[in-house]
Amino acid sequence: MKALVVPSKESRNVSQLKIMDVAIPEITDDEILIKLHAVGLNPVDFKLVEGHHPAWTYLHILGLDAAGEIVKIGANIKNFQVGDKVFYHGDLSKNCCFAEYAKANYHYVSKIPTGVSYEDAASVLCNGMTAYAAIHRKMNLTGKKTILIHAGAGGVGSIAIQLAKLTHLKVITTVSTHKIGWVKQLKPDLIINYKTEDTSKKVAEYTNNVGVDLIVNTVGVNEAQKDLTRLAYNGALITIVGEPKLDNYDLSSMGQSVLSVNLGGAHQQPQIDDLSTMAADLGQLLAEKKLQSIITKTISFDQIADGLQDLIEHKVSGKIIATLE
Ligand SMILES: NC(=O)c1ccc[n+]([C@@H]2O[C@H](COP(=O)([O-])OP(=O)(O)OC[C@H]3O[C@@H](n4cnc5c(N)ncnc54)[C@H](OP(=O)(O)O)[C@@H]3O)[C@@H](O)[C@H]2O)c1
Repeated sequence: MKALVVPSKESRNVSQLKIMDVAIPEITDDEILIKLHAVGLNPVDFKLVEGHHPAWTYLHILGLDAAGEIVKIGANIKNFQVGDKVFYHGDLSKNCCFAEYAKANYHYVSKIPTGVSYEDAASVLCNGMTAYAAIHRKMNLTGKKTILIHAGAGGVGSIAIQLAKLTHLKVITTVSTHKIGWVKQLKPDLIINYKTEDTSKKVAEYTNNVGVDLIVNTVGVNEAQKDLTRLAYNGALITIVGEPKLDNYDLSSMGQSVLSVNLGGAHQQPQIDDLSTMAADLGQLLAEKKLQSIITKTISFDQIADGLQDLIEHKVSGKIIATLE
């Protein structure tokens, strides 16, 4: 089968990825073989190319977010059958899904609801489940009114805005100038151009100097440090890419919390089934049209490396999906 591979331990740049012919994976009794139709591109894909995982062997098949059709089933599996349309977020320590076929342990696989395309299913996995985990696994929403979601035009941010609106929070989001137009369609209550405006000042104005109840930070430690001062009493900061230093900040005096999300960590834990629960919930929201599609570009399998380069250069709003025929 055709696969996009990291050829060797020395390959550390997306320009070194190669499309090669490799064997179709063999499945165990707990695994499913899937013929892939759509795969999602995420920053973690290029970060893994740069950093590799110690458990990888080479050729390593890249990719984590997959949607396709079951073609073979392990003997222990009762809740799926050949022909089922499924989607999942794979384990980054293993070969995965930038390929014509991939295998997955059934614990983290979900069925795609009727009426949802392979492309849309693949577009809410790593990013959508991270947004979902931030809002529905980490936050206490009781009595909360406002949320700041950084990088609202990003894969995580654009789903987080929609999930937060569904819980009736007032949503403030940050974006750069050229992504403002796109993010407007998600109907955040306040858009801050973080390149030209002072985010802390705008948040203070919007909240009458109370501060914001909740923050989802997908952009990094420097911004997370500033986020502490933007939080209201009893507020919570959810970090996706690194926690702020707390040496000079007294969280407890304001009853505040800093919480982290590590989606892929579930693959090594007994809570692995929650990956399929979260994907199923997101699929249902797509089926009920409560989540709108965030796909802005659909590319062919041969263009995945270029798509990853676009992510590196922050050229992407929403999501890039690659299709396989
Ligand atoms: N911990 C986890 O489990 C987990 C899971 C999923 C993702 N992540 C990480 O979360 C991050 C976001 O993922 P994603 O899929 O949303 O990426 P994405 O679609 O590439 O969006 C990220 C966007 O953030 C914007 N940005 C950069 N600096 C910013 C700042 N200071 N303020 C506001 N926006 C800023 C950039 O757009 P502009 O600057 O052009 O506006 C960039 O395109 C990535 O680093 C990813 O690896 C972690």
